[in-house]
Amino acid sequence: MKKYYHIITYGCQMNVHESEKIAGILCGLGYENTEEINSADIVVFNTCCIRENAENHAFGNIGMLKKLKAAKRDMIIAVGGCLTQQMGKAENLHSKFPYVDIIFGTHNLNKLGEMILQKKSRKKAVIEIEDSEGIICEEDKPFRTSYPNAWINITYGCNNFCSYCIVPYVRGRERSRKSENIIEEARSLIAGGYKEITLLGQNVNSFANGTEDISFPELLNKIASIDGKFRIRFMTSHPKDFSEELAQVIAGNSKICKAVHLPVQSGSNAVLRAMNRKYTREDYLKKIEILKKYIPDCAITTDLIVGFPGETEEDFNDTLTLVEKVGYASAFTFVYSRREGTVAAKMPEQIPEEISKRRIMKLIELVNLQTRVMSSKYVGKMVEVLCEGVDEKTQKYLGRDEYGRMVYFDSPTPVIGEFLTVRIDKANGISLFGEVTGD
Ligand code: SAH
Ligand code: SF4
Ligand code: F3S
Repeated sequence: MKKYYHIITYGCQMNVHESEKIAGILCGLGYENTEEINSADIVVFNTCCIRENAENHAFGNIGMLKKLKAAKRDMIIAVGGCLTQQMGKAENLHSKFPYVDIIFGTHNLNKLGEMILQKKSRKKAVIEIEDSEGIICEEDKPFRTSYPNAWINITYGCNNFCSYCIVPYVRGRERSRKSENIIEEARSLIAGGYKEITLLGQNVNSFANGTEDISFPELLNKIASIDGKFRIRFMTSHPKDFSEELAQVIAGNSKICKAVHLPVQSGSNAVLRAMNRKYTREDYLKKIEILKKYIPDCAITTDLIVGFPGETEEDFNDTLTLVEKVGYASAFTFVYSRREGTVAAKMPEQIPEEISKRRIMKLIELVNLQTRVMSSKYVGKMVEVLCEGVDEKTQKYLGRDEYGRMVYFDSPTPVIGEFLTVRIDKANGISLFGEVTGD
């Protein structure tokens, strides 16, 4: 009889890829994917805790499974991901949701198979949360779901301890995979037909730091020298480690997308200092200048936080003026969320919600305006798009250009995984609409 799995993923691309690894383990045990939670034999929640709402979302959805579990006693419910690694959260989950069968940490992911077998032979929940030190899962066989893109981890964890951020606590210290393993993985994915490789790490620029291995720009060069037509993307770059050499490597390699995500978080020096970001507004703008010098058409994107403890109107204004100065292709904007255990959580001047809300609305307005102006410049242009799939809503094909813009288009033939030239006819916010041309 067939057995089915259903995975619910929260959070960043790192988690999306980790869900592919979880799927790989489940496929190895004979499970098949189902989009229908009711027909699943195992449901896995791959959680995130970067902000309070991510956490609440997961808690809410796990709670909603109580009824289904009561009706389907043999169904296994497993909860993994960053939320489980937070101090005391695994116990908290277990006492709140006693019907959850398995709780596994981010560093125990490759033990999920064993844990499932263990659970089948006992009544009690199986809970394994481990410390991260040194753990790298090199032997994974992910079940990839993002063709034509393939995610590849290059580093795990983070050493930066930005004062607002929970990641270093739940993902442990930074560790890099061996460059030869990464290059081999990229080579075999490209040989297998993947057209885009996205390198993942909390701070890709510090890849191999403190080891004998090659640097991040060298790694990019090596991957770009693999034969075949494909694109390389990477995320995320920490501004403090973004080097001139890296800008040169991006500029000099047509396979590396001219799109750089460089999270600034705030435009105010006082806030940046309190955030422990280790760069000033001026340092950041200097890096942007270097980036624009080597890659004038580079699409620069960012992350911004408003309402960090102690943020004044003047500090917020510094963020607005920085955004105006840089001219972002797009930006993710967040209201600061207090995370227990971080340094900022203990800061006395937490900002009232109404103020943060007003600030984020204003920031979103500015970011959207920039995005719209940039999108409108595309109209009438030909862009090369890598087709990623079909949009369910519009039934149009969708894909991205090298700058990361989403393009929706019609095509008479199936084109997923192909590079196409699309003429842009219309821009709507961040999205572009067009038609495949004959060339
Ligand atoms: N490693 C990446 C980002 C990881 S988290 C980097 O350093 O850029 C993605 C984004 O979430 C961060 O850039 C930040 O803008 C936001 N974020 C992290 N912690 C947050 C918090 N406590 N409240 C609000 N936003 C947060
Ligand atoms: Fe969090 Fe800062 Fe590390 Fe990014 S660099 S994951 S924001 S601590
Ligand atoms: Fe990613 Fe959320 Fe963890 S953003 S690293 S899944 S806390």
